[in-house]
Amino acid sequence: MNSGLFITFEGLDGAGKSTQLARAVRYIRQRGHRVLVTREPGGTRTGERIRDILLASKTGMLAPLAELALMYAARAQLLEERIRPALARGKVVVSDRFNTASFAYQGYGRELGTATVRAFDRVICGTTQPSLTIILDLDPGRALGRALGRGTQRRKRLDRIEALGLAFHQRVRAGYLAIARSAPERIKLVRADQSIEELQRQIRELIEPYLAERKQDSILKTRLP
Ligand code: TMP
Repeated sequence: MNSGLFITFEGLDGAGKSTQLARAVRYIRQRGHRVLVTREPGGTRTGERIRDILLASKTGMLAPLAELALMYAARAQLLEERIRPALARGKVVVSDRFNTASFAYQGYGRELGTATVRAFDRVICGTTQPSLTIILDLDPGRALGRALGRGTQRRKRLDRIEALGLAFHQRVRAGYLAIARSAPERIKLVRADQSIEELQRQIRELIEPYLAERKQDSILKTRLP
């Protein structure tokens, strides 16, 4: 059996992450791989309850460290209940956000610093790290505009984090760019201000070598005596 593959999608709210993720998942399934799709914060019953606290505007002020700890609480639950078992069964796990979001939003956006986030990450994620992280990069002004447009279509207000404004989201974006520079072999940036089709083509190009490697693995294994 193949070992699992863990891919995460990241980017500012409104960058088009969910559309691209859904298309990428369809592609991975068409290539014959079993996929677990999940999202953060959330993805489990407990995690979705934590998500409500994190995103509901009625929550009001949350201390930045409390926010970070809740993100990692939801993540610990998701890892234990869903991600690690799926990887152990050889699935491809695709997550709408994961730990890079904590580095960008809490580390840079909330200015807690990467060392603090890393301390949580060592304990909770440990060696379960994505093989590939795709960041959809978009100018924060445009991203927020799109998130706002989406909000009015669905008659929903911006969530607690989306409502933090331009300066916050500019720090988050700078964070994503810095994180991508720090691990270019694993964390890939794609420009989100392109057509849906072109963006998807670039994303598939990034994913393809990982899928090919799994195919290669299973061919080698079936050839073993
Ligand atoms: P989304 O599911 O619409 O992407 O919304 C999740 C929000 O939570 C988004 O504003 C980013 C934020 N977030 C963090 O601040 N830190 C994290 O670690 C994660 C996973 C999400």
